Amino acid sequence: MKSLTTVNDLRALRREWSKQGKVVGFVPTMGNLHDGHLQLVHAAKAKCDEVVVSIFVNPLQFGKNEDLDNYPRTLDADKAKLEAAGVAAVFLPSVAEMYPRGLEQQTFVQVPGISDILCGASRPGHFRGVATIVCKLFNMVAPDIAFFGEKDFQQLQVIRLMAKDLSMNLEIIGVPTEREASGLAMSSRNGYLTDAERELAPQLYKLISEMKASVLAGNNDYAALTEAFVGKINHAGFKTDYLAVKNATDLSDADAETESLVILVAAYLGTTRLIDNLYFSV
Ligand code: PAF
Repeated sequence: MKSLTTVNDLRALRREWSKQGKVVGFVPTMGNLHDGHLQLVHAAKAKCDEVVVSIFVNPLQFGKNEDLDNYPRTLDADKAKLEAAGVAAVFLPSVAEMYPRGLEQQTFVQVPGISDILCGASRPGHFRGVATIVCKLFNMVAPDIAFFGEKDFQQLQVIRLMAKDLSMNLEIIGVPTEREASGLAMSSRNGYLTDAERELAPQLYKLISEMKASVLAGNNDYAALTEAFVGKINHAGFKTDYLAVKNATDLSDADAETESLVILVAAYLGTTRLIDNLYFSV
């Protein structure tokens, strides 16, 4: 596995692959890799000749009071996992390599509307930071196919829209959420949980699964349902940031006529913010 830190080296490798007619897959990450990330790599390996994984903790997508400084960095373990998974190259740029003119001077990509709701409302500027770094990484890696986890359902929609609006020449594939046996969605932020919080954390998935069952049983008063389940989530020991039933195709508000639904939740357990979602058709 090649370890590359500069855009020039990455582009040189990409040119070689282009000459050989290779299909290139790309998995962008912020490191601290878990089985959810490895599922993305496996999906990429299944469809592509060569797979590039980037590890870059992107300062542009963190708010002032968020966990940028404490974000877990486990580079050696990450590289070992990627090598074992058969990744061809890992791209490990510095902040200066990615933002040579500094964060304040950086041109950015803003996907309107969808970036301002749900996680975007709680984390202003977050999706602007995500869209900007993903756009830059796409320009650097020039992948044929890029792979993203469905756990970050809204992020996936933002990136799909960005790629469509900017006529980007690549396919984007969403990979189902990897869960622990308890149902807890895998996330680097699970590492922040205390033992007691870890015991509680699977309740979040359990409760949105109950909510889905209620919808499938015919309950389509989503306002009342959401209010009831916010109560249950808080009662279980979380502090709900948002809970919403949305149209899964564009994240507009769902009503009784909507067929393709997604339940999205963000909730704090202590100081850790967990997100999860379930999408389904009625
Ligand atoms: O999902 C993530 O890990 C990040 O938001 C991403 C897509 C790597 C961009 O920094």
